[in-house]
Amino acid sequence: MKIDVLTLFPEMFSGVLSTSMLGRAREKGILDVSLHNIREYSQSKHKNTDDYPFGGGAGMVMMPQPIFSCLDAVDPRHEALRIVFTPRGATLSVSMAQEFAGKERLLLLCGHYEGIDERAMEQMDCELSIGDYVLTGGELPAMVLIDCVSRFIPGVLGSSVSAEEESFSTGLLEYPQYTRPADYRGMAVPEVLLSGNHAHIARWRREESLKLTWRRRPELIAALDEGELDKRDREFLARLKNQEK
Ligand code: ADE
Repeated sequence: MKIDVLTLFPEMFSGVLSTSMLGRAREKGILDVSLHNIREYSQSKHKNTDDYPFGGGAGMVMMPQPIFSCLDAVDPRHEALRIVFTPRGATLSVSMAQEFAGKERLLLLCGHYEGIDERAMEQMDCELSIGDYVLTGGELPAMVLIDCVSRFIPGVLGSSVSAEEESFSTGLLEYPQYTRPADYRGMAVPEVLLSGNHAHIARWRREESLKLTWRRRPELIAALDEGELDKRDREFLARLKNQEK
């Protein structure tokens, strides 16, 4: 996948893009990320990229010219899916990440200051937020998107099943995990995980997932499709609800 990032702060990306899974995916050529410094496209004498808002008000607004020129250079035929990050966008979800992972090209525009001139916003295909809080810019959201989309690109994760089994992909939060030692400072790993009985382990994990989701994110249980809970799941949840009433 090819990802073009339009930003005023390309240096923010270096650690994230060169470390761990993303670093390896780039080395393997599965992921091709190019950073474009919007400032370099400014035609003003002092390479300005922002100006005062028409109508007054606090803060500065990113000017259209550097953004349009950068888009013309990077994606002249509008072939990429263009995403801009703002707190007013739709919230990024795992299903969106999966959908984006199927695209050949993404273009990410990172906003700064108080906003982006609306005429530049209109050149984008979608506006995304990563949560209901305000950051100083779109760089961290862009890195979040690159990271979570990459996990759905074949070859990025070590094991292809793991992205599918995790929290949210099943519609439930993930069950607890343990590794050696079986007893650490007097805290024992649940017996069933040492039993070697795969059916019991699978059932235990399923019920831990249901329990955690019910306690922490009950709205996720309510949102599950009819077929996603079997008879045993329903009975388990009914018992849980009874106990915790
Ligand atoms: N820019 C500033 N805050 C943001 C957020 N929460 N999500 C996406 N872009 C942002």
